[in-house]
Amino acid sequence: MKKKQKFTSFSLFTSIVAAIGGLLFGYNTSVISGALLFLKKSFGLSTFNQEMLVSIVLIGALLGACFGGLITDKLGRKFTLFFTSILFIIGTFVAMNANSINILLLGRMILGFAVGIVSLATPLYISEMSDPQHRGALVSLNQFAVTIGILLAYIINYSFAIDGNWRAMFAFALIPAFALFILLFFVPETPTFLATHGKKKKALKILSKILIDTKNSEISNIENNKEKKAASWSHLFSKSVRPALFIGIGISVFQQITGINIVIYYAPTIFQLAGFESAPSAILASMGIGTINVIMTFIALWLIDLVGRKPLLKVGISGMVISLTVLGFAFLAKGTLVSMVSVVSLMAYVAFFAIGLGPIVWLIISEIYPMGIRGRAMGIATFANWTTNYIITLSFLTLIEILGKSFTFWLYAFIGIIALWFVIKKVPETKGKSLKEIQKFFKNKNI
Ligand code: BGC
Repeated sequence: MKKKQKFTSFSLFTSIVAAIGGLLFGYNTSVISGALLFLKKSFGLSTFNQEMLVSIVLIGALLGACFGGLITDKLGRKFTLFFTSILFIIGTFVAMNANSINILLLGRMILGFAVGIVSLATPLYISEMSDPQHRGALVSLNQFAVTIGILLAYIINYSFAIDGNWRAMFAFALIPAFALFILLFFVPETPTFLATHGKKKKALKILSKILIDTKNSEISNIENNKEKKAASWSHLFSKSVRPALFIGIGISVFQQITGINIVIYYAPTIFQLAGFESAPSAILASMGIGTINVIMTFIALWLIDLVGRKPLLKVGISGMVISLTVLGFAFLAKGTLVSMVSVVSLMAYVAFFAIGLGPIVWLIISEIYPMGIRGRAMGIATFANWTTNYIITLSFLTLIEILGKSFTFWLYAFIGIIALWFVIKKVPETKGKSLKEIQKFFKNKNI
């Protein structure tokens, strides 16, 4: 058997730098949950204003996704990351110094916009900077960083909760934002972007530092001028690209519609519904959720290139469906059993998300599109992701009111079964294939 070689330190370094974008994504979407408690007091916020503060990041993100795809294709992957690091710095400054709710909303909107762009730019950048054999693990460093960002937000919220310092909670994000801005000076543009923009020599030089197998088809494609120029919008909806577009939108919607962010954003509320009376114990239980998310994502990094994307997706989604079903039953019971079973099933639910839909959705949408329109196609899938996130997050508390707790979780479980069917029937295995090979596969496919 051929021995698996290690990825080049160059690939690893560039991937880690780009993954700081993932950390900023995780941190900025989660920090509000803790800050909100104190913002309520500082600004005397109405319920509507509170909802706005939470959801404006998601609105910013879905707008960012529309815009981000285009700039990655037109101005470059690295330029886009630079641009977002500046947005993160500006947005944080505005939010941490806000003296009115409107300024705070403006800051959160800028941050959301940056999150939307970076959520596609980071996986895209890493995907094009890695060897096919290790692309799964390297791109999933992004998701690993997202989960670290979420956990960090819980920890920072907890540490500044004593004196209610919400400005410090926001300010912490300046550290990764400046780190990303500075470190980007030391990484190059991706070979794919360079090749599609007439910089063949430079592209080949960078590829030779990334690829383990130098007989790789990507090199000969560039050498023989087979790389296509950045393509037009119409190509995006052409017959050969449509199947990939459909799969990307489908898995992105399923990542969100199966309810992950009601757990990530509302964990303390769910724990209180399950009988944890004091806020601190509910917050502590949420930290447990954040920790499991990080640990299981780390395990996924290791498994993704070994067993492939599809088996992990199947196991992950099946586990989520079972956990949600059990959670629904737990809410029918009474007493301490409810709290115990709800903690265990929520932990299991997050663990299964972390080895499946969490990392793999971002990975697959960075792999399946043709290079000339990769950014824009990812933008569409990412837009679907953030829009679904917005709808699910906003409708959760209303659903609980209408359907009750058990049926709400069973509804997510039922959608999970449809997600499983979609993965089995529609999603191709991309493990170990070069981006070029994946493109070829889609060209011959009809959905
Ligand atoms: C999702 C986010 C989610 C996070 C949780 C990401 O893959 O896109 O919406 O909050 O995982 O780890």
